[in-house]
Amino acid sequence: MAIPSKPTAELLATRDPEVEEREVDILIVGGGMAACGSAFEAKKWAPDKKILLVDKAAMERSGAVAQGLSAINTYIGENPIEDYVRMVRNDLMGIVREDLIYDLGRHVDDSVHLFEEWGLPMWKKTAEGKNLDGAKGQEMGTLKEGATPVRTGKWQIMINGESYKCIVAEAAKKALGEENILERVFIVKLLLDANKENTVAGAVGFSVRENKVYIIKCKTMMVACGGAVNIYMPRAQGEGKGRAWYPVWNSGSTYTMCAQVGAELTMMENRFTPARFKDGYGPVGAWFLLFKAKTLNGLGENFAASDFAKSELEKYKPYGTAAVTPTCLRNHLMLAEMKAGRGPILMDTVTALADLSKTMDKKEMKHLESEAWEDFLDMTCGQANLWCAQDCEPEKKNSEVMPTEPYLLGSHSGCCGIWVSGPDEDWVPDSYKWKDNRMTTVNGLFTSGDGVGASGHKFSSGSHAEGRMAVKAQCQYLRDNADLAPALKESTQELVDLAYAPVRLFLDNYEYTTAVDINPNYVKPDGFAMRLMKATNEYGAGWSTFYMTSGSTLRVLMDLFKVMHEDSEKLAAGDLHELMRCWEMKHRLWTVEAHCRHILFREESRYPGFYYRGDFMGQNDAEWFCFTNSKYDPATGEWTCKKEDYHKIIPD
Ligand code: FAD
Ligand code: ADX
Repeated sequence: MAIPSKPTAELLATRDPEVEEREVDILIVGGGMAACGSAFEAKKWAPDKKILLVDKAAMERSGAVAQGLSAINTYIGENPIEDYVRMVRNDLMGIVREDLIYDLGRHVDDSVHLFEEWGLPMWKKTAEGKNLDGAKGQEMGTLKEGATPVRTGKWQIMINGESYKCIVAEAAKKALGEENILERVFIVKLLLDANKENTVAGAVGFSVRENKVYIIKCKTMMVACGGAVNIYMPRAQGEGKGRAWYPVWNSGSTYTMCAQVGAELTMMENRFTPARFKDGYGPVGAWFLLFKAKTLNGLGENFAASDFAKSELEKYKPYGTAAVTPTCLRNHLMLAEMKAGRGPILMDTVTALADLSKTMDKKEMKHLESEAWEDFLDMTCGQANLWCAQDCEPEKKNSEVMPTEPYLLGSHSGCCGIWVSGPDEDWVPDSYKWKDNRMTTVNGLFTSGDGVGASGHKFSSGSHAEGRMAVKAQCQYLRDNADLAPALKESTQELVDLAYAPVRLFLDNYEYTTAVDINPNYVKPDGFAMRLMKATNEYGAGWSTFYMTSGSTLRVLMDLFKVMHEDSEKLAAGDLHELMRCWEMKHRLWTVEAHCRHILFREESRYPGFYYRGDFMGQNDAEWFCFTNSKYDPATGEWTCKKEDYHKIIPD
């Protein structure tokens, strides 16, 4: 018998797991900001219903807010909601669902007020214009009572947010009841109803802590598993492997699982390629907005203000010439400098801190310096570690900024996701509202946060608010469909076989070789990940080509995807951790394929700086000022892509 090359601390997977079957009214899949919003709100509207939340990780520290945040990026406050819609529309180059964005804008502040009530410290402005944070900020009263937040930009407010997720998860758990929450259970597949066409009826998943499969029937489901990371080769390699800007949990489950049961996707070509502090992935927002820092090219020039930048932005008017340059175009300018040999791009932290300190005494100056560190310690502590490792004092040394590998998400500065019904109001065009608010094109299947397409810039607060809005609509759906009796098409055995296929494959074959990871009969998820990420990086507009691709290049990738689909059936898992990795890879493959199919379909370069179609450079409003939607047909296995009309609701 082959002896595994090293002892493993992971829980070994057994051939026949225990099975637990459940039946609930509402199933919430995910435990991030949106799901926590749903969990908090659900019982208010359906106190007598059975509700279950399932997170693949521990809610206290799962999802994008796991490490904490130092700002809440969506707080409407004194601003007109219409301006919020205009900002999102401009940042995303014109094509967005204004009904969804407006709807979110009118609810988001309520979630922010709740966060403060639950104990999240928000910074406040004094009457003299000074910033107070932590306990001092709390003494100024709450935002709901009228205290003034510290705004960095028009929409962002500063918080002391290291424990943000713990606070939000605690409230969700209290509202729903711990007994209605399963943590460390990974949902792998959604299940359609056996009797009702195009209707969701349940899901199957497994525990990553014990050999157990869960089969859960439900009348309505919320899928809020965030976006997708590690679908492109990360820049962090070798000893830096494993670091990425986007959180490790989010492996495309939202898009994959919903697409597989036939939910229509929208704007899947859109991606977020954030500019971040190089190698540590530290966020730039606070530096640009709070510290008023500028980025410099390798010649020490403020390139974003150059004549070249102006003429480049002119090409993308009205978006490029707006007061705030869209996120993708900020990248575009940076990439232009790098490609012209005028790199590296540096965040001028030295000048920014020196300018701010001009009006400060010694104590205030010290506080400012600690704020610079805390910005990272609150949400990306690895960046602070890197500064230490590199002997970087930001007041003395500038730091390099670089566009990262691409991520897919729908709640930050990107807008890929699922096509959902909007609010049922007179001002919402008919093609935007066909069922309950935030319901996908599959009956009973809802989404929120990163799941909802064509409406970015919700951020943490907006995702929470959207989770609340969506679950309220789900409760209405339950009332309107009182006769629902979910029935699954698959037998219990078939579902167990499906979830545990990678384990069985491993157990059947691992004795054939002496090196447990090398085997002609299976592939381990680590190797599969490398193959997928190499292919997307080289052909799918990853960083290796400066985010450039073309129709011919994408068609090569489509062929590679075909083989990868075949090989994904050969993913093998020796332990429960690897079983999760296998399923994550399957989800990533589907998600990134959907992304590339959309890039292939949209024959223009709508988001320069995020990606380019070399064969269709520039925007082509005449043909492509529309949504691009795609659908996978679970009955035939065919994908189709189509154009969907855009409607302007909020005037310029
Ligand atoms: P998430 O909060 O990411 O939650 C996804 C959840 O799904 C997780 O609980 C995960 O464990 C679970 N999950 C995934 N797959 C499965 C599966 N198959 N089965 C079961 N569960 C699953 N917003 C701000 O307001 N201010 C900021 O400063 C800010 N900074 C950010 C920094 C970073 C690095 C990132 C990535 C985001 C930041 N955001 C910020 C945005 C904000 O965090 C997101 O908009 C928000 O968290 C999205 O909520 P969500 O519920 O859709 O996803
Ligand atoms: S974070 O979520 O990791 O903090 P990021 O640093 O990109 O993200 O941005 C935080 C907020 O600042 C977002 O609302 C983003 O749109 C905004 N922002 C970042 N950089 C700029 C900039 N140069 N100009 C205007 N807004 C910006």
